[in-house]
Amino acid sequence: MLTDIHCHILPGIDDGSKELEQSLAMARIAIDDGIDTIFATPHHFNGVYSNPRQAVLDQVDRLREALARERIWLRILPGAENHIVPELPDALADGTTLTMGDFGRAALVELPVHTVPASTEQILERILQQDIVPIIAHPERNTYLRRHPERLRRMIELGCLAQVTAQSCTGLFGPQVRAASRHMISSGLIHFVASDAHRDRRRIPEITPALEQVTEWTNRQVAELIGKEFPAALARGDVPDPQALDAVQEAPGSRPWWQRWFS
Ligand SMILES: [Fe+2]
Repeated sequence: MLTDIHCHILPGIDDGSKELEQSLAMARIAIDDGIDTIFATPHHFNGVYSNPRQAVLDQVDRLREALARERIWLRILPGAENHIVPELPDALADGTTLTMGDFGRAALVELPVHTVPASTEQILERILQQDIVPIIAHPERNTYLRRHPERLRRMIELGCLAQVTAQSCTGLFGPQVRAASRHMISSGLIHFVASDAHRDRRRIPEITPALEQVTEWTNRQVAELIGKEFPAALARGDVPDPQALDAVQEAPGSRPWWQRWFS
């Protein structure tokens, strides 16, 4: 079974699901794709939507009740897509915004669409100092990081993890985003594949087609780790060890035969 760590499934609180019916439709799509656990991650701090911890927890309770009523057996965990703002480290420390699953181990962090603010690493380091691992949401969709993946590598070297959006891999956001996804995944800079679903049409909670693409670009072990095992670890309240990824990146089959032959 699959875990989706980034999904706007809570109704009416951001630009994701508009109403409960749509959330239930998204839940059914997720189950059809083999997803059994979803982190509900509404936008927070992005200048448009504000979804502090308690508001999200209340919404998660409401959605869980509705799912149970409809006999849809999908596990919902609380979370937030926290925009990178100077007040984020303090909000995580005093519990006014959510970590993943409210476990206090990792937090989903969103960068602007086109830029990487100068203060980014400083904010990330302050979060890391609290023993919370920032997970960079969809770096492949950031214009600057597409051109300068070395800046993402620096964040990973600091101790951050990163999440690619499933439909970036399958081409929904265009060839440049798809190529960046391939490059970042093949370079070992990505630790999670997640849907970032917003609707029951087009941007849907579906991960499996992306994992087939990831397998083609890398190998089955990489797809297993970033598509299944690492997300599942997060759902257990653990933080996955990225070194497991380094090991399988070097596994036989991850490089063309001529490279293996002559090395
Ligand atoms: Fe999102």
